[in-house]
Amino acid sequence: MTDMDRISISLPSKLLKEFDEIIAERGYASRSEAIRDAIRDYIIKHKWIHSLEGERAGSISVIYNHHASDVMEKITEIQHNYTDIIVATLHLHLDHDHCLETILVRGDAKRIRELTDKLTAQKGVKQVKLSVMVPGGQIPE
Ligand code: NI
Repeated sequence: MTDMDRISISLPSKLLKEFDEIIAERGYASRSEAIRDAIRDYIIKHKWIHSLEGERAGSISVIYNHHASDVMEKITEIQHNYTDIIVATLHLHLDHDHCLETILVRGDAKRIRELTDKLTAQKGVKQVKLSVMVPGGQIPE
């Protein structure tokens, strides 16, 4: 049998409730198995982002709660360090609490990845989606 480690984690009740509803819907036999799958997805996503190389163009979309401490300032500050790859930023006020910021990027994949990682790790950020393509000339007709 595979080696198993037992961990204990703290989660906001609302987050756990939503997770439990989803795993019930998906028919998971145990919460542990669902958490293992979620962690595997997290690892695969990370590995995909870190396998990107060369020039890319695309977008990084970030959803955050603008009431959460200084998240807005932090996100702006991070972006000011990546002016070499940021083409434009769109800001949408989603609802009373949430903002969606879509950052259009073009440049070295490593820089795009770095920016994505920094935004993802920022406290108050709820979701980050990276979508990139290889800019023209390299796509087969
Ligand atoms: Ni806003």
